Order: sequence, then structure tokens, then C-alpha cells
Amino acid sequence: MKAADLAELTTAQKKVNALRLDFPLLNKPLTFGGKPRPLVYFDNANTTQKPRQVIGALVSYYENSNANVSRAIHSLGEESTRIYEGARDRVKSFLNAAHREEIIFTRGTTDSINLVAQSFTSLLKSGDEIMVTEMEHHANLVPWQMAAQSLGLTIKVLPFTDEGVLQIEKMPDLWSDRIRLVAVTATSNVLGTVNPVAEIIRFAHERGVPVLVDGAQSVAHQKVDVQALDCDFLAFGSHKMCGPTGFGILYGKKEWLEKLPPVQGGGNMIRAVWADHFETNVLPYKFEAGTPHMDGAAGFSVALDYLESVGLDFIYRYEKLLLAYTMDKVGDLPGLHVYGVAPEKGGILSFLIDGIHAHDLAAFLDTKGIAIRAGHHCAHPLARRLGVVSTARASFYFYNTMAEVDLFSDALREAIAKLS
Ligand code: ALA
Repeated sequence: MKAADLAELTTAQKKVNALRLDFPLLNKPLTFGGKPRPLVYFDNANTTQKPRQVIGALVSYYENSNANVSRAIHSLGEESTRIYEGARDRVKSFLNAAHREEIIFTRGTTDSINLVAQSFTSLLKSGDEIMVTEMEHHANLVPWQMAAQSLGLTIKVLPFTDEGVLQIEKMPDLWSDRIRLVAVTATSNVLGTVNPVAEIIRFAHERGVPVLVDGAQSVAHQKVDVQALDCDFLAFGSHKMCGPTGFGILYGKKEWLEKLPPVQGGGNMIRAVWADHFETNVLPYKFEAGTPHMDGAAGFSVALDYLESVGLDFIYRYEKLLLAYTMDKVGDLPGLHVYGVAPEKGGILSFLIDGIHAHDLAAFLDTKGIAIRAGHHCAHPLARRLGVVSTARASFYFYNTMAEVDLFSDALREAIAKLS
């Protein structure tokens, strides 16, 4: 990496080391391989660690504010509703959405995408087409395939190059006037590629077609402004961005959400019910049947405060620098194959080492206290395209350090000596 970049990364360690103090799990003695070792957590694309501010918000919710939202005519119910609806305003400002009704609370990215896929089918008919990419996580493939199976739709697939760059120049050739929606990931969870989503959205909109963006690996790592991006739907989860598990967001443009029918029936999503029919509630409630994840909303709101105080631009830049540093440290390892070398890439390193199974490598690193993920990463078509069954993957967040990368590099060298 360039000397100026290395200096910038080195300077940033002070800020990062101070931030790390907020994360209990990064600061407690743990045992790995029979020895006490610090945790080196490089599995952030899977889920992130939680700062004490978020953990405190969850505890505080139950200690001070727990009651069901929207239903109770009592002070505690009002307090809980204030926290829950306050979280909606917090997400609206985080995304710069135009209306609070555009923020739907879900269980996570998968739930958000399934909601759109199931609801959107009401607008489709046999012979219609959905465009996806070859680098999608199963969460942004299978819901569309299920819709395709039930309605007789066709799935069109945008490929990527050997470097892991999406071939958007192939969009015009693949396009047809039967395409009704484009579903694309903003950042690949395997390759780390940051896709030119704005360009894809422009292309689709010029043809009158909406775009759903899977933001699971992007919203936590860079500033996303839904009005500037002009996406029609954006799905992401709280647990990959320092927030609680089981909570997520579907952002949808009001005009689309108003057109779409609810997919789950029950309390809250209705305005009135008779024995044989119901009247649907207004946005956003028509998509939020049942008692919601109130504590999730309370914790997520604080997670967003936390991320904004760290700075989304800082996070994006820092992870890029840390990845460059990692490549300097491990790029020359004998037998190393890196999957995904797109010029625009986040802090994700998928790799294999000749003669070592990805799972054996992950198990070996675990004995050193280093947590990575190994497998197909819920992206079978992508793995098939790469010609691999699984890869090892290190994925960074803003609390990872150069010192941790040094330990990772040393452990990989030891693994090659012992396992290959
Ligand atoms: N949990 C999935 C991953 O690790 C998204 O990539």
C-alpha cells in the first residue's frame, strides 16, 4: 500500500483502540486452543459485535420501558411506543428517507426481501421476468425463485467477471420488456465487490422498472442516502451493524409500498375487521402484523447513533485501508488464491490456500483466537461460478486493527507450515 495510506491507517489505530473499549467481547479473556487469548473477530460479514451502549439500551428497555406498543392506554405503553416510533424516525434520518412511513420494521434482511417478493407477486403474471445477479446471497435469490415457481416467471442473471466485477455492460443484451424488477446486492458478502448500484437503478428506471437493493453488507459500512440513490426498496438487518439480532429494515418508496398488499395478517396491520373480511391499515403498519421487536428497535436506534458518531465515511475508508494492509501482509503467501479483486471493494477477503481445506483453516485459526467464516457463504451460484465449493473469508469492521491482521498473517503462515 502507499506510504501515505499506511500512515493514515497507523494514525487511525488510536481512534480504533479507543472504540474497541466499548465492545465487551473484544476485551475479555477467552480461551482458544487451551490458552487464554484475545479474540480476533474477523467474521463481521456474518454478524458484528455489540458495543455496551447498545447492550445498555436493551437492558434499559426491559428495566424501564417494557410494554406492548400501540395498544395500551397506559404510561408505560406510551413510553414503549415513543421508543419504538422514535426508532423509525432515527432510521428515516439515517437513510435520509423522505417519509417515516417508508420505514418498515422486519426481522432482518431476509425477512425484508421475502416481504417484497411475496407482495410484489400480486403485480406479476406468468411470463414476467426478474433480473438478479450471479453474486447474490440466497436471501436475494430464493424468494424470487419461489415467486417464479408459483407464477411461471423467468429469472435473468447478470454475470460477473473473474475479478468479481459485475458485468453491467451486459444489461442491455439481457434486458427485455418483460422485466418487472431488478434485485441486486450493493456489496457482495463473498467477493466484497461494491456494485455500481446507482448506475443499475438509472438503467432500470429509464425503462420504468423498480430496483430492490440488498444492503446487508453495505449499509453498515458506507453512507447510504436512499433519496440520492433513488432505490425503490432497500433491505438490511440490524445485527450486521452493531445492533440487536432479529431486527431489520425494509425501506420502500411510499408509492410502491402503497401499491403492495400486506403479506402477513394479524393485529396492527388492520384498520377494521369483520367476521369475513378486513380493511388494511395505513403505512407502515400494514406490513407490521403482530407484536413487534420493541427491544430490537430500542437497541437499533442506539446502534445508529453509535455508527454515526464513529462516522460512516471513516468506516468505509478504514476498512479499505485495513484490507490493503492485509494484502501487503499475506499477498505473497505460497498457494494463496484470493476471490474478488474488484477495484471498488469493501473489507472482505475470501481466499483459499493450496492443500488446505477452508474448514480446516478456519478450525486452525480458531485455536489462535481468530474467528473467520468458511463455507459457501449462502451463495451457491457465486461459488459455482468461481469453481469452488467453499472459501475461507475474513471480513472486517471498524474495530479491527493492524495488530490483529499481523496475528492473522502469522497464523496463516503457521497453517501453511503445519497443514498444507
Ligand atoms: N451471514 C451471511 C454471511 O456471513 C450473510 O455472509
